[in-house]
Amino acid sequence: MPKVFITRAIPENGIELLREHFEVEVWPEEREIPRDVLLEKVRDADALVTMLSERIDKEVFDNAPKLRIVANYAVGYDNIDVEEATRRGIYVTNTPDVLTDATADFAWTLLLATARRLIEADNFTRSGEWKRKGIAWHPRWFLGYDVYGKTIGIIGFGRIGQAVAKRARGFGMRILYYSRTRKPEAEKELNAEFKPLDELLSESDFVVLAVPLTKETYHMIGERELKLMKETSILVNIARGKVVDTEALVKALKEGRIAGAGLDVYEEEPYYNEELFGLKNVVLAPHIGSATFGAREGMAELVARNLITFKNGQIPPTLVNRDVVKVRKPGFEER
Ligand code: NAP
Ligand code: GLV
Ligand code: GLV
Repeated sequence: MPKVFITRAIPENGIELLREHFEVEVWPEEREIPRDVLLEKVRDADALVTMLSERIDKEVFDNAPKLRIVANYAVGYDNIDVEEATRRGIYVTNTPDVLTDATADFAWTLLLATARRLIEADNFTRSGEWKRKGIAWHPRWFLGYDVYGKTIGIIGFGRIGQAVAKRARGFGMRILYYSRTRKPEAEKELNAEFKPLDELLSESDFVVLAVPLTKETYHMIGERELKLMKETSILVNIARGKVVDTEALVKALKEGRIAGAGLDVYEEEPYYNEELFGLKNVVLAPHIGSATFGAREGMAELVARNLITFKNGQIPPTLVNRDVVKVRKPGFEER
């Protein structure tokens, strides 16, 4: 049986499926797999299951003479040098769709929690400060921003961006979006308006980032863009940390040039930034957008289905690098 190495303990349903078709080895520890261990483990691997935190590049491929497929346990694949993989005839797959709703729900979790200062309020309650104050209710406490009926601007109108818009309809919002290409069908279905980026930024009360990280989207939101946003607006980032210039964001938050930010992703992960973390008007999550039981099991199943389909000589269902088919047919050589 071909060998698959899995760099972190994914949900058991995926591992069980894979065991029927592969010799499976899993990096069992909770910490990140050390680079040298990864480079050692791939030596013998026909297939690799990777996390978004592992850089899968030329060096990994150089160490992996038998490697034919990399299945990323994530929809984003900015951690993988896809061009290099294609050149070498290595298939790359990701996990779209199965995590769309969970991630869109989480964008909304951040949006609402930031707008209504939920974390500050929770700290106030559980720390005993409320009780110490001895006042049951105050008309000027914890004032936040209205959400219902406001304007949301979604940057990157793909699977997750559109799912965020779907939810915004229930909140009676005006929906603006900016994306690389216009989406006439989604515009109709979701009652969304296309806007150039600058207009979207200046008109929105909530700006949600849902683009992939690419050369074009790196620091797409910087000082200039933050200046275009309203002083009462909130930025939500569930895309990738590097889409935002963090230094510029911290400055804008400190100076009150925007009202707040809800972040799930950071320029480096794990992340710590005293200046940012010291601010009250931010809600910070440790990259948990897809962290539901359902989404994570769906991702594990999809990873397994991609590998099993490939093993059967067929094109995996969520192949990222379509051109690889011209370089090598799907399937493992007999060993
Ligand atoms: P998707 O369906 O591919 O949507 C991405 C959208 O962004 C597409 O509509 C795309 O192009 C647009 N886009 C790409 N480059 C752009 C650019 N330069 N300017 C403007 N728009 C651009 O992907 P998805 O499934 O929605 O996922 C989006 C991203 O979310 C992933 O890549 C990942 O990084 C991130 N994510 C994060 C979490 C988390 O845990 N926080 C979970 C899942 C995903 P078109 O306009 O041409 O269609
Ligand atoms: C998570 O960030 C993903 O890209 O799946
Ligand atoms: C608040 O609890 C209210 O009744 O207005």
